Amino acid sequence: MKTVSYNGLTFRPFITSAEISERIGAIAAEITEQYCGQNPLIVCVLNGAFPFAADLFRALGCDAEIAFVRLSSYVGTESTGEVRQVVGLTEPVEGRPVIVVEDIIDTGRTMEKFLGDLRAMNPSDIKVATLLFKPESLKADIHPDYIGFTIPPKFIIGFGLDLDGKARNLRDIYVLADENE
Ligand code: IMP
Ligand code: MG
Repeated sequence: MKTVSYNGLTFRPFITSAEISERIGAIAAEITEQYCGQNPLIVCVLNGAFPFAADLFRALGCDAEIAFVRLSSYVGTESTGEVRQVVGLTEPVEGRPVIVVEDIIDTGRTMEKFLGDLRAMNPSDIKVATLLFKPESLKADIHPDYIGFTIPPKFIIGFGLDLDGKARNLRDIYVLADENE
């Protein structure tokens, strides 16, 4: 695999599509075992999680439903910590398990705020599935239940992750190359 360039930055291959598929299959098998028969709702956090959510959803071995939310970035200062649901969750959630699907958890602040909103809707259970997790960047009290890959705090693109809206359609994941690479 070759390096790719966006906005004058060079990225090198990091995780292959085959490795991604394998991890998604394993996570889907776990979710299937734990939630089959309970009518789980998969909640995909737009935009970045859509390829992960699509593959995960299709790999589930039982009936499930999918819904989409889109969360805004912070409004105002960090201390107000407001995360708005730009596209909100309208599906009924009360009494059923919800699995929130994210592309990446970095500081965890977006997820922390969204989970607060979700808890108020009284699902029977809430789980967080993230394709990528940067534990060294974490600044919120978030413990993802299903993790595709734990990675160092470097900037990555591909498989839904973007640089200024670009590179989401890459099948593999790439990491920003160090200047001396
Ligand atoms: P946080 O966990 O609230 O800090 O925010 C996570 C969001 O920041 C993700 O949903 C991504 O949209 C974005 N993000 C964090 N790290 C990266 C990265 O390495 N590449 C691309 N987007 C990222
Ligand atoms: Mg995201």
